Amino acid sequence: MTPDELRAEVAKIGWWHSIDLGHGIVTPGRTNLPDKIDYIGLPHDLTGRSVLDVGAWDGFFSFEAERRGAQRVMAVDSFCWNGPGWGTKAGFDLARRSLGSTVEDRELEVVDLSPDTVGVFDVVLFLGVLYHLPDPFRALQSIASVTGSHLILETHVDLRFCPYPAIRFYPSGQLSGDPTNFWGPNPAAIEAMLRWVGFRRVERVARRKVRRPKLVGGRRFRPKHWIRWLRRFEPTMMVFHAWR
Ligand SMILES: C[S@@+](CC[C@H](N)C(=O)[O-])C[C@H]1O[C@@H](n2cnc3c(N)ncnc32)[C@H](O)[C@@H]1O
Repeated sequence: MTPDELRAEVAKIGWWHSIDLGHGIVTPGRTNLPDKIDYIGLPHDLTGRSVLDVGAWDGFFSFEAERRGAQRVMAVDSFCWNGPGWGTKAGFDLARRSLGSTVEDRELEVVDLSPDTVGVFDVVLFLGVLYHLPDPFRALQSIASVTGSHLILETHVDLRFCPYPAIRFYPSGQLSGDPTNFWGPNPAAIEAMLRWVGFRRVERVARRKVRRPKLVGGRRFRPKHWIRWLRRFEPTMMVFHAWR
């Protein structure tokens, strides 16, 4: 495919991820991936490791894992690839072809992941998916069953002021008008659920970075203590790492 043909193919697709396909062609995605790749804490060196990317969509994180040396990468999706989701599999297929990638793909529901259906992977990426699933506990059980060592989980959290494990339910699109946003667990609930499904060690790695407005003169705005305290009432995205 010539660069012009590739550009024309890229333009036909609604992209979620910005993926650099070479020849100066970057797919016009809607997520800020340079920020996200840092904040999820993806290991820089994945040499020889196997990686499963669950809810891969256009596959940015799968291709990045391959680029970082992973020996085997599998991308899994269903909702966007072959369901009622917000996109299609066309972006993943085009990116894989033009990158000359060997990332494998499987169309599967999260709850159908098991050692029998996909095998067990050293590293599992489960980014931005959990809160879209009607049964998050069952989903985490499936995820645990295919994680050999290290899980990187990014999810929506709520009720951060609550010291005990608690989960908020959003009926009928209450969160951002999206009816597939079902759950807002608090960090304590995520940690408890991860331990319950078999992870021995769980760490909170990051909360979505908020860009602070700058004052004149370049000094950063530092919110007062009570504003920082009030932020516990805001829902946000968080990253957890867990080890089997
Ligand atoms: C917000 S997107 C996140 C995409 C990507 N992981 C990222 O972080 O940029 C949610 C993804 O989860 C997938 N998904 C939603 N429900 C799913 C299900 N039941 N089984 C498998 N994938 C699902 C969607 O198709 C979509 O690709």
